[in-house]
Amino acid sequence: MAAPTSVPVPLITNASSRPGSIALDGSWAHLIDPYRTGELDLWGGENTRGWHRGHRPRRAADGSVLPTDRVEYDFEAATTLEVPGSWVGQRVELTHYEGAVWYDHSFAHEPDRDGRAFLRFGSVNHDARVWCNGVEVGRHVGGYGPFDLEVTEALRPGSDQRVTVRVEAERRADRIPGLNTDWANDGGITGSVHLVPVPTTFLRTAWVQLDPSGARLLGEIVVDGADAAGATVDLDIGGGWSITLEAGPDGIARLDTPAPADLERWRPGAAVLHEVTWRLRVGDRELDVLTDRVGFRTVRTEGARILVNDEPVFLRGIAIHADAPGRNDRACRPEDAATLLDWAQSLGVNFVRLSHYQHPEHMVRECDRRGLLAWCELPVYWGIAWDDDAVLTNATSQLDELIVRDRNRASAILWSVANETMPDEGRNRFLRRLIGRARELDPTRLVAAALFVTPQGDGHHLDDPIAADLDVVGANNYFAWYYGDVETTPTIGWSQDVERPLIMTEYGAGALAGNHGHDRARWTEEFQAAVYTAQYEMQRAIPFLAGTTPWILKDFRTPKRQLPGIQDGWNRKGLFGPDGEEKLAARVVRDAYANWPDP
Ligand code: GCU
Repeated sequence: MAAPTSVPVPLITNASSRPGSIALDGSWAHLIDPYRTGELDLWGGENTRGWHRGHRPRRAADGSVLPTDRVEYDFEAATTLEVPGSWVGQRVELTHYEGAVWYDHSFAHEPDRDGRAFLRFGSVNHDARVWCNGVEVGRHVGGYGPFDLEVTEALRPGSDQRVTVRVEAERRADRIPGLNTDWANDGGITGSVHLVPVPTTFLRTAWVQLDPSGARLLGEIVVDGADAAGATVDLDIGGGWSITLEAGPDGIARLDTPAPADLERWRPGAAVLHEVTWRLRVGDRELDVLTDRVGFRTVRTEGARILVNDEPVFLRGIAIHADAPGRNDRACRPEDAATLLDWAQSLGVNFVRLSHYQHPEHMVRECDRRGLLAWCELPVYWGIAWDDDAVLTNATSQLDELIVRDRNRASAILWSVANETMPDEGRNRFLRRLIGRARELDPTRLVAAALFVTPQGDGHHLDDPIAADLDVVGANNYFAWYYGDVETTPTIGWSQDVERPLIMTEYGAGALAGNHGHDRARWTEEFQAAVYTAQYEMQRAIPFLAGTTPWILKDFRTPKRQLPGIQDGWNRKGLFGPDGEEKLAARVVRDAYANWPDP
């Protein structure tokens, strides 16, 4: 199985941990711009005297703006927003705002004239235009993945630097995700921002992992800079195993070599992370060093089973939104990941579905450390403009970001290309392109998608046309909530056209934490628990079930859910309330997982 040959998005591996990397997180000035005044002239053309110039109104000695100055924006006088963070939870006037907001931040950095520098954004939702000292350095469209913009030529001599970002968060039919979702549209600079200095020729992207057989080590290294072609890279994975590779004329070195026989494996529940080092040199001159902590394990399927390190595993899981515990925000802080995964592990899980988009990097790294397996997902969700090539290009770019950022993460075992998309010719073609891209970028992991389940009498037959293109099939069923009832759910029989491991990727019911009553009364904890009991009776009878992830760990913010006194802008299917209040159904899950038979 050959290593991938395509050159993915230019992402810097482990960027925030590179030596000299500077975190720019904190309070950034912001100005709301619903009419796009900061970047458009009166006729909709580019405003060359726009807010990116960061005009500093002249001030008198007492700090007041000179009356002669006609300036109609001022970042110095503006209030601030926290970065990283969604703006929806920070300013009441921005609660459902989906227009444009400008951020402006000054920072100290003396550029190294013999080096280069990039800005790394963990994520910005949704469309970001970025200037450095008033010079536009790039644009990125996509709300959940990381991106790097080179600022080498835009940094000023001295240490007084400034970054300006215009963020626009409009939901649109020609975006990924499209117009309609069931989660809060968290506009803003929602991921950490770092200034990343690097040598003029540096190790941009590097990954290494066992192939599914465990017999070979695969990987790729992208060297970026004038001396990239023919450069030498020494890869050391610890334990005395190392190899020297040479970059080709394109600056890429590919790894496909027999794996060391005694390589200590990363296992679910027993995380072993190796300190992996890539050293770049030209002749005897060392140009750059890149490190990352990598767990080595294999994942593959065999019939309807999923095997990790050749051991069949049943994925006792939970679906998680990146919705912050205890506050109205995206889960953008490391402590958010720790809290959410603590709640998840209290259920006895070995697996998490990181739905429906790329989660912050620290969430996947935390799964690595905890020995949790993870499903990582692209927000190709519900209605998508399947026949729009520009949308496919953007979806592919977001898939690159999902895979390239986390290819060194042992916990990530599945790349999911879609959730609940209606089969038709355009959708099948679109998804097959994404499936092909995922396999091209990463032949070591499994490709999946969460598919719609439509009730068909007393049984359900999985017949989605793309099932045969996937390694693992996810099915979202809501028997006993959106259709059917608690009594008949256990009688539902399951069958499938093609033999694939099935993960029941969604099921559940809504309940307001603390709301108690009859177990057939909707929105009570008792009803939610009864649905789970019925679901597990049904699921245990599915012979090709390889995993299960209830919807969802905790209640999450969504403008779609507006039942007064019960939802009030929250989806109440959580096993925990917004502040971690455990509901009765959590006990049903915990008990099911404690007694689920091993495969
Ligand atoms: C769908 C969808 C979820 C949504 C859930 C629900 O299956 O995938 O994103 O939140 O149903 O209705 O609660």
